[in-house]
Amino acid sequence: MAATAITELDFEKFREFFYRNYFTKLRFEASGEELQHLTNLMTVNETYFFREEYQFQCLVQSILPDITHRKQDDGPIRIWAIPSSSGEEPYSIAIYLLEYWAGINDWDVEIISSDIDTRILAQARQGLYSQRSVQHLPDLLLRKYFSRSAEGYQISDELRNAVEFTRVNLSERADTRAYRDFDVIFCRNLLIYFDDVSRKSAAETFYDALKPGGYICLGHSESMSRVSSLYKVRKFPEAIVYQKPLEAR
Ligand SMILES: C[S@@+](CC[C@H](N)C(=O)[O-])C[C@H]1O[C@@H](n2cnc3c(N)ncnc32)[C@H](O)[C@@H]1O
Repeated sequence: MAATAITELDFEKFREFFYRNYFTKLRFEASGEELQHLTNLMTVNETYFFREEYQFQCLVQSILPDITHRKQDDGPIRIWAIPSSSGEEPYSIAIYLLEYWAGINDWDVEIISSDIDTRILAQARQGLYSQRSVQHLPDLLLRKYFSRSAEGYQISDELRNAVEFTRVNLSERADTRAYRDFDVIFCRNLLIYFDDVSRKSAAETFYDALKPGGYICLGHSESMSRVSSLYKVRKFPEAIVYQKPLEAR
């Protein structure tokens, strides 16, 4: 029996049918499972411990002393690290606070860290890392906060319990609405992937999420001044960061 030839036209029709159906599934599937799966495949998750360390130095030497000096209640200091990727950044913040911040015994700190990618969030919660991820950590800290196994470097339960990981799409107002009253936000190496409209919207989201006088730290190639005039530029000895004006509501 002769095989039926598939013409280019048939193939085009099939392709169109496939993409139309797939798009409908992405848009209308009630669970959102396929859209999340596609999102997880598309994200760029590059990160490592103590990346752009000068900002953590700025946090403990300049930002937190200013915040605690002004603080009028004894509630926790709230830090939001978005995007978390696999957790190296929020865990680096926790390590820095424990090791290098003079106020660690006087203040409660909450660290919440978010990402759009559910697969990478599961890795962050697990806290198991490769040699490449931990290569910039001093040996002393590696031994203190990690245990070595055949699978890699497992972060301690003390640090795992110090960070709460949540799934958030920074571009989705419904996702970010509950994120309020932060003293410091780290948003590093995400805005570079956004277009101008999304960057502006992110700047407004952070403005709503910060307390008056709260700070935002961006990645070294990112600048808030080019995106929004809502923030004051603060030049500390360790880093340039952005501050929501004290008189803001
Ligand atoms: C290059 S990593 C940066 C991780 C870390 N902040 C750092 O600087 O090392 C970028 C992360 O942004 C996340 N991401 C991309 N779009 C996002 C969005 N709209 N909302 C939240 N996270 C997003 C990705 O899943 C990825 O894990």
